[in-house]
Amino acid sequence: TPAEASLTLLTEAAGPRIEPTVYGHFVEHLGTGVYGGLWVGPQSRIPNTRGWRNDVLGALRRLKVPVIRWPGGCFADDYDWRDGIGAPSRRPVRLNKVWGNVPDDNRVGTHEFMDLAEQLGTEVYIAGNMGSMPPRAMAQWLEYMTSDSPSALANERRRNGRDKPWKVRYFGVGNESWGCGGHMRPEYAADLHRQYATFLRAPVVRVASGDGEGNERVTEVMMQMARDDMDAISLHHYTVPGPWEQKGLATGFDRQRWAKTLQEVTTGLEEHVAKTIAIMNRHDPAGRVALYVDEWGMWHDQEPGSNPGFLYQQNTLRDAMVGALTFNVFHRHTDRVKMANLAQMVNVLQALVLTDGPRMLLTPTYHLFDLYLPFQGATPLKLTLQSPRYTEGDISLPAVDVTAARAADGSTHLALVNLDPTRPASVRTGLQQAATGRVLTAPAMDSHNTFDRPGHVQPAPYAAHPGPQGLTLDLPPRSIVVVRLATP
Ligand code: AHR
Repeated sequence: TPAEASLTLLTEAAGPRIEPTVYGHFVEHLGTGVYGGLWVGPQSRIPNTRGWRNDVLGALRRLKVPVIRWPGGCFADDYDWRDGIGAPSRRPVRLNKVWGNVPDDNRVGTHEFMDLAEQLGTEVYIAGNMGSMPPRAMAQWLEYMTSDSPSALANERRRNGRDKPWKVRYFGVGNESWGCGGHMRPEYAADLHRQYATFLRAPVVRVASGDGEGNERVTEVMMQMARDDMDAISLHHYTVPGPWEQKGLATGFDRQRWAKTLQEVTTGLEEHVAKTIAIMNRHDPAGRVALYVDEWGMWHDQEPGSNPGFLYQQNTLRDAMVGALTFNVFHRHTDRVKMANLAQMVNVLQALVLTDGPRMLLTPTYHLFDLYLPFQGATPLKLTLQSPRYTEGDISLPAVDVTAARAADGSTHLALVNLDPTRPASVRTGLQQAATGRVLTAPAMDSHNTFDRPGHVQPAPYAAHPGPQGLTLDLPPRSIVVVRLATP
């Protein structure tokens, strides 16, 4: 028998709109995240446009990619932007010391990345190097990209083939300053942030490096000492299904791990975000500084046989469930959460797309982003939900999670998640409207797509019609349902 839930949907907004950039992305020079996965070079036999794979870009276009963060991650604080400009054949080969110590021939640099962004019609979020380069290098990179003047840097850009300046809306001042970005104490990082941000004179959203380890002092000190020199602060939150040394594979887990993983989002991420916002509220009661969760996603053990430095992992229905619950958390915190970036786009961690030479597949996480498209720019709505519990061992969670939002065209959309892997749920709404959309579920908790079976997990059409008691939405076990309500 299905678990019974009851939902009351209100017409009042629950917060400011869900910025489209909450559905943002992250591409790092890491493994085959850039080289091979997105970039094959103009001479490749894999069909491409100026080096960028047509198949992958075609899939990404459908997701209306709002923003991409690049070039890292940890890589950003070991990156000299000058290595990636000028004639490709003359660019230096550097070792990617953070990720596998493999050579990076810098064939993808600023011009190529900006071309990718233009091909996808997306904003860019450039991550600058605060860890190992002087402030002048960071400031000069920004000038190189954005100046319309006759300055030497702007002219150098023109000589390198780009006349018009690019639009750089977001700029990260370092990354994980407490870790790979320099192992700094928060006080030192705050001072350094102020110094570097001072020289970023072009109009740009300055993003400070914030917490990523659940260390509240990082947010506290950064907000206290450097808030006037930032427009946003970052938060990193990875969902790790076990202890760091034994995260487990993306596939082949039991029900206990499933429950633990989902709990890590509904409780772990939710609390991390709420606590960070509470600190921000104390130091910035006017709400000027935004919170960017600019790295989130599942971090599993790498696939057997793959390079441990490449963070290549499979992606199952569980990853999509984590994504759905994550978006629902973000929908509840639109007062501060103005951007979020999945780690990462292709072949790295919780990827949207996996590639193998000329082949590619779309992961369940890709389908999740596709399902949630109507939420980009929509306004979250208030609701009350009475959910039955889902219990596994000592873990007890609400079985059903729901968010709702009104899109700019007036249509209302619901995102419903049934966390229970074995029991269906029925959500009574009392609404007198039909609901149509799609459902994402699969035969097993770890169902996933492979290159031989790329369509194994994909959304199916979903429809529900009001009965005598109004509209009831039936959710299969372990499912995500996104519907649009018919106009009453
Ligand atoms: O996304 C992989 C890595 O995780 C990033 O480079 C770093 O910022 C984080 O620790």
